Amino acid sequence: MSYITIALAKGRLADLSMDLLEHCGIDCSEARSSSRKLIFDDDKSGVRLILVKPVDVPTYVDHGAADIGIAGSDTVMEYGGSLYEMLDLGFGRCRMVLAGPDDKSGGIIKANTRVATKYPNIADDYFRRRGQTVDIIKLNGSVELGPLVGLSDVIVDLVETGSTLRENGLHVIDEVCQVSARLIVNRASLKTKHQTIMDIVEAVKAFVQKGE
Ligand code: PRP
Repeated sequence: MSYITIALAKGRLADLSMDLLEHCGIDCSEARSSSRKLIFDDDKSGVRLILVKPVDVPTYVDHGAADIGIAGSDTVMEYGGSLYEMLDLGFGRCRMVLAGPDDKSGGIIKANTRVATKYPNIADDYFRRRGQTVDIIKLNGSVELGPLVGLSDVIVDLVETGSTLRENGLHVIDEVCQVSARLIVNRASLKTKHQTIMDIVEAVKAFVQKGE
């Protein structure tokens, strides 16, 4: 059987992504209940789900290992590449911000300010657009630690509830962008499997619009 493969991000977006797909007639029950398995075939809908690290969703889709993916716009933007971003799914909303120990700087960043982030491309683009030269330090997590231990002066990171910033004595200096979950599609798949993919995109779109 030839499946349409959908890459889902494990973690925060997983349950909401599966809720969405189930409303579109794709059975996700096995993916929900399994702990270590990574591939789930639903023969009825002809969809194969694969569960991957959130940051890897655009990679699977860009290389055609998945036809469709659901990922945060932060990871899609950071990845770049030539993916089709088809829909804003409206969930997983948060903000990408510039934050630091001092909120009185009014967003004025001195030359060679050190910026810790999981998103070096987004941070680079943000400072370039402002004509500011900074040193970007790539981290893979717990970015808020950077300014606290002298690794960096500020951070560029996601804020959802704000509690991680608060609990570490950091303040928002500026908003970089809004973030939400996106439906992305491989360019070649959209041509070769056009109707099947558009049926899924339209079903997802109808469900998202109903909830707005
Ligand atoms: C994310 C993000 C912030 C935190 C923001 O990290 O990088 O650290 O969540 O959420 P809040 O505003 O609700 O506190 P994540 O939990 O993914 O862990 P990580 O730092 O290890 O990447």
